[in-house]
Amino acid sequence: MTDEKVTGTLDAAEAAANESAEALAEAVVDSSAPKRKRRRKPLSNRAKIIWGVVIVVVVAGGFGMWKWHEQPSFCSTLCHIEQPYVDNLSQAQGVEGMDKYGNAVSNSNAMMAVLHNHTQTTAKPEMVCVDCHIPNLRELAHDGISFTFGNYTVPRSERSASQLEEWDGNEGSQFCANENCHVYLLGNDGLVSPEKLEEATADMAFNPHERHHANLNDDCTMCHKGHRASTVVCTACHQHEDVEVPDGWVDWSTSEQILVTAFDN
Ligand code: HEC
Ligand code: HEC
Ligand code: HEC
Repeated sequence: MTDEKVTGTLDAAEAAANESAEALAEAVVDSSAPKRKRRRKPLSNRAKIIWGVVIVVVVAGGFGMWKWHEQPSFCSTLCHIEQPYVDNLSQAQGVEGMDKYGNAVSNSNAMMAVLHNHTQTTAKPEMVCVDCHIPNLRELAHDGISFTFGNYTVPRSERSASQLEEWDGNEGSQFCANENCHVYLLGNDGLVSPEKLEEATADMAFNPHERHHANLNDDCTMCHKGHRASTVVCTACHQHEDVEVPDGWVDWSTSEQILVTAFDN
């Protein structure tokens, strides 16, 4: 389904919801018209107990659902095509690993989901799907509709940080740096400061965060991949000895080849 159609479907659903809300409002007004007084019977003890149990079950169920939602297993139970991502996140750090397409990655730290699954530097020692993919109703609705109508590919088409943030109306860089993560990179406007980003890797002989060419650094996922080996996009053109491709990362042409192979099969 195209985005347009999805928006259409969502609009239609919203219109229907509005209509039924109006109908409901009218019905409520109508029924209150012939004011009939009715004494409310006090609840019997049995009714109180039943209501108590119902409330406890609903609240506990809701809370359990919410806690479950935070577990990676939630994503793959609901939607089997999320399984490669759950497997991906669950890998050990700093060892040979596997990307979301099943390719070997010589150092699993080159995949940001693995690099971040356990952290030593933040208040949160363990990170799960929803720490990066902050739940968002519009995206969930879009994915739910695509899933229902079978309108998706296996493997899933890859999203950039800008696409992942689109539903929230955020900038792509906010996927990686925001009030919870990499705060030290933010400028006064709450967005990644190019100077601070450049400073963070100033010790590298060829600084990948240097803004020599406008806008090459804005989308962090151009280089930092979530569920496959990261790449240094600069190697598309710069191949001199200074350009360091960190352990487990791949050069640009290998990165492009990974995508071609994944979607050829
Ligand atoms: C450290 C942040 C991070 C965590 C944690 C994380 N992801 Fe991702 N995810 C990304 C990034 C970045 C992308 C963009 C595509 C890429 O680089 O692989 C992405 C993309 C995706 C996509 C879109 C399809 C695609 O391949 O682009 C899905 C689906 C997804 N992740 C599912 C999950 C699930 C399920 C979990 C938990 C098991 C998870 N992610 C945990 C960062 C993360
Ligand atoms: C042109 C490729 C490229 C882009 C785009 C890019 N990075 Fe990086 N980044 C790198 C490389 C290469 C490293 C070094 C990684 C290593 O040595 O393991 C790095 C390292 C980092 C580090 C660790 C620095 C440190 O102090 O150790 C952070 C944090 C980071 N990047 C954040 C970002 C954010 C946020 C964005 C988007 C606004 C971004 N990067 C965009 C290539 C890039
Ligand atoms: C599409 C090809 C292309 C890509 C991709 C590219 N560059 Fe360049 N870069 C050039 C060319 C051509 C020059 C020489 C002309 C100039 O100075 O603009 C250059 C020059 C530079 C210079 C000046 C010093 C030098 O090494 O020659 C720096 C610094 C630089 N690039 C950094 C980067 C960084 C960082 C990236 C990745 C974020 C990057 N470039 C990506 C083509 C590219």
